[in-house]
Amino acid sequence: MFGKKKSTPQIDKDQLELIENAQKRIKQKKRLYIHFVIFLIGAIFLIIANTVLGIGKDFKIFGKEWFLFAILIWLFFFLYHLFNVFITNKFMGKAWEKQQLDKLVAKQQDRIDKLKTGFLKEEKLIAQSEAYAEANKEEQNTKKTNSELTIIVAAAENDAIGLGNKLIWHLSNDLKRFKSLTNGHHIIMGRKTFESFPKPLPNRTHVVITRQKDYKAPEGVIIVHSLDDAIDATKTDPQPFIIGGGQIYKQAMDIADKIELTRVHHEFDADTYFPKIDASIWKETANVFHKKDANHDYEFSFLTYERK
Ligand SMILES: NC(=O)c1ccc[n+]([C@@H]2O[C@H](COP(=O)([O-])OP(=O)(O)OC[C@H]3O[C@@H](n4cnc5c(N)ncnc54)[C@H](OP(=O)(O)O)[C@@H]3O)[C@@H](O)[C@H]2O)c1
Repeated sequence: MFGKKKSTPQIDKDQLELIENAQKRIKQKKRLYIHFVIFLIGAIFLIIANTVLGIGKDFKIFGKEWFLFAILIWLFFFLYHLFNVFITNKFMGKAWEKQQLDKLVAKQQDRIDKLKTGFLKEEKLIAQSEAYAEANKEEQNTKKTNSELTIIVAAAENDAIGLGNKLIWHLSNDLKRFKSLTNGHHIIMGRKTFESFPKPLPNRTHVVITRQKDYKAPEGVIIVHSLDDAIDATKTDPQPFIIGGGQIYKQAMDIADKIELTRVHHEFDADTYFPKIDASIWKETANVFHKKDANHDYEFSFLTYERK
């Protein structure tokens, strides 16, 4: 408890490295200094050996004493040693290596940062476009669920709607109602109903269903080849209308949201009929009765049905 505390060196790894490096440099310089001294002594020894002791007195190279070349070669090695300690070490030593490494690491880091920023930007754009697509999809779904596909029809008590590709009765109030309800909307119809009109009805977008791929119609009339395509063509309309005839009503009963029916209180011979309205599927939400009068040969009721 009261014993001597063990002293732990307060030195970190970098400092230790610096000290080691300094020690190494001191050793290198010391060796160079020793080399220099030995070189001086050696040179003097070589001169004495030749001139005083007469060693190799007769041996000459290019007419010069041999010790001159020996000293020059040694000087070359000494200079090389000197160069190594002061020049090469500075450029290729540990500090230089570390500096180069730091530079490379910094460069790589910079590249990684740039890639990361690019990647994040890309991620952000992808996320934005996905969110946009999702929002768009939702909007389109909402549009679809918000749009009210409505069947509009005039049918007799026996569900008769047409004979010889013509309407069977003339009820001016029914025509007025048809006009006011469908005004400005898309009207979807079978090719036969379309051909029963003398010309396209004003202020409505006609969507005509036919199996004939080369069917020609006046400008502005949309030609499609299935009921689904017809509905697709009316996507922007909050209330597209199915206006007949018998074949198209039959196919549309399963997908329509609403039926605007003019029930003519009479029975007629016909070749085209409206399907039975199933009370378990459809709820009557409006019923307005009209008496026979000078302009109307039959009693009739305006009925509205909505899908339950
Ligand atoms: N009382 C009313 O409220 C009312 C309303 C409208 C019409 N009508 C009457 O109804 C009668 C016409 O009805 P309709 O049943 O005979 O004919 P329609 O339904 O008007 O048209 C039938 C035609 O539509 C095309 N078609 C039908 N289903 C199709 C599908 N799934 N894919 C592609 N094309 C398809 C075919 O044309 P292609 O043959 O060219 O392939 C077919 O011949 C007329 O008498 C008309 O006056 C009455």
